[in-house]
Amino acid sequence: MLLLHYYLPQKLIKDNQKMCGIVGYLGKQNAAGILLEGLKRLEYRGYDSSGLAVFEDGNLIVTRRVGRVKELVAAVKKAPSQSSLGICHTRWATHGVVTEQNAHPQLSSDGKITLVHNGVIENYNTIQKFLISKGYTFSSETDTEVLCNLIAYHYAKEKEPKEGSRFAQSVRKAILHVEGTYGLAVLCADCPNEMVGARHGSPLILGVGREEILLASDVAALVSRTPEVVYLNDGEVVQIVGTDFTISTLDSEDIKPIINTVDWDISEGELGDFDHFMLKEIFEQPEALENAMRGRFSLDQSTAKFGGLNLTPQDLRQVDRILLCACGTAWHACLTIEFLIEKYARIPVEVEYASEFRYRNAPLDKNTLVMVVSQSGETIDTLAALQESKRKGYTTLAITNTVGSTIARESDGGIYQHAGPEIGVASTKAFTSQLMIGAMLALFLGRLRDMSFNDGSELVTGLKKIPDLVREITQHCAQIKSIAKKYTKKQDFLFLGRLSMFPIALEGALKLKEISYIHAEGYPAAEMKHGPIALVSEECPSVFFATEPDTLAKVVSNMQEVKARKGQIIVVRSANCPLPEGLADDEVIIPECHQAATPILASIPVQLLSYYIAVERGCDVDKPRNLAKSVTVE
Ligand code: AGP
Ligand code: GLU
Repeated sequence: MLLLHYYLPQKLIKDNQKMCGIVGYLGKQNAAGILLEGLKRLEYRGYDSSGLAVFEDGNLIVTRRVGRVKELVAAVKKAPSQSSLGICHTRWATHGVVTEQNAHPQLSSDGKITLVHNGVIENYNTIQKFLISKGYTFSSETDTEVLCNLIAYHYAKEKEPKEGSRFAQSVRKAILHVEGTYGLAVLCADCPNEMVGARHGSPLILGVGREEILLASDVAALVSRTPEVVYLNDGEVVQIVGTDFTISTLDSEDIKPIINTVDWDISEGELGDFDHFMLKEIFEQPEALENAMRGRFSLDQSTAKFGGLNLTPQDLRQVDRILLCACGTAWHACLTIEFLIEKYARIPVEVEYASEFRYRNAPLDKNTLVMVVSQSGETIDTLAALQESKRKGYTTLAITNTVGSTIARESDGGIYQHAGPEIGVASTKAFTSQLMIGAMLALFLGRLRDMSFNDGSELVTGLKKIPDLVREITQHCAQIKSIAKKYTKKQDFLFLGRLSMFPIALEGALKLKEISYIHAEGYPAAEMKHGPIALVSEECPSVFFATEPDTLAKVVSNMQEVKARKGQIIVVRSANCPLPEGLADDEVIIPECHQAATPILASIPVQLLSYYIAVERGCDVDKPRNLAKSVTVE
């Protein structure tokens, strides 16, 4: 929690979003409307099924539907409720297929407890056997129902305490036996004026409104009701009674809440004139890049500056190795950042998948700095890598887009991206903003070592031009759309680039497969000869990146190799990299820029290409199948 004070101006906190959604409400208004409104704002976090529980005439009424939140809204409309207490959930299934029975809220077999859960109960099997022996029954395949019945079991055993609530105490007792992760909102049939929340490993935020208290896994669901929020920490339980709340540990020790004010423009989370969030976010990149740079250059020292690193120049000079950890698109950003830091600051960098690092027990030098990169700041694998590094005593930094996120709070320092909310499941503006921060970091670390004043100035000037150049590229979207139409029916793609373009090739391939379900692979262009060339045919186009005059001749040779095998070629090339006539079937030209920023410019055409191909194929671009915005389960 302390870190927040260093990391950003404490007064106005701007937050973004995470994964699979929970909302809870206790107040004076009609709960269902408020809950469903909040749930719609969380739908990008998980969207295979959803459900709502309200407290009606002394009964818990649970409604669940398979599919998008609109199915639930329609079902609730048919049977309106007057309740001012309720919980709801949008699911991203981990245990049990997508069915109404498996959707949340889950209800205990004695009908006493209902809850919504984000996370995974790892020891569900053992607990389930125990509960079956005690007469509890199960109607779903979820790990969540096990926890629900376990709370009911403790509730049935618990005597009314002299102080506090039997209900809250039974939640505490149950979760003491649970291994795994959870963000929870729980209701009890005997407590019409009470809701209990708890978290361990999955985000949970309390919204403190006027005569109402809300719980949500993301501030996006709260901001239309209140800007005042409390970020709950792992191991904390919140008991809400009427319009009062108390936060305590699992051992019932009271915790003084820290109320933060979030600065969130509600229109930022809306589509406006765009058809999809992904397209909106592609077009928001110039502003996101400007925000990443704002106030972060010192011209008279020709360097970058970051307010939240919490490290002195002396500390940073001691660093002789950097380890970068992330998942997915953020991992691709790390590969580019590795390239930039090694080139400009000459510090050895290693990049690890966060999910591997945690279990690999990699030996690190004592002067290694660990940095994690995460748009959401909640990805559990990345968080676990951060925690493992901290446990081993390493200094940790985070690059994240989400103020107040768990990763932001748990790292020793970091850099906020300020890219604004990213709602589209396919990351676009958060990625290029991470590349910009990587370039600035390379400048900053380089200037602490051997980079000259002039080279520093050149880099600063080069980076400042990037937002306008990105704007220029997005203006060519119609051309990219018409290229996309030609390739819509293909089932396989290769993305090929050398050096700093290799991570962009990986990212291009990921974008395409995520949203259009086309199989795509990214490779270093020259590596293609060692295997993937077997895929090349008239049916498998290749997207090449030709952005550096120094390696252009080599990339051209690789393109010739593809051409010789009848492969179609789409090339993203810099204006200063001319190609032999007729070599490429289609080309998108990006402007010349400082070498450190070419990865940013080269990303834009492939984002647009994937977007238009997916739209042509009729795919749900913002909510691709099987995915969720950020993955808060292992
Ligand atoms: C990006 O398009 C993906 N949806 C995914 O790979 C994502 O980048 C990854 O899950 C990491 O998320 P984070 O940046 O929020 O940690
Ligand atoms: N593990 C639970 C389930 O599969 C919760 C998943 C989620 O976080 O949405 O139902």
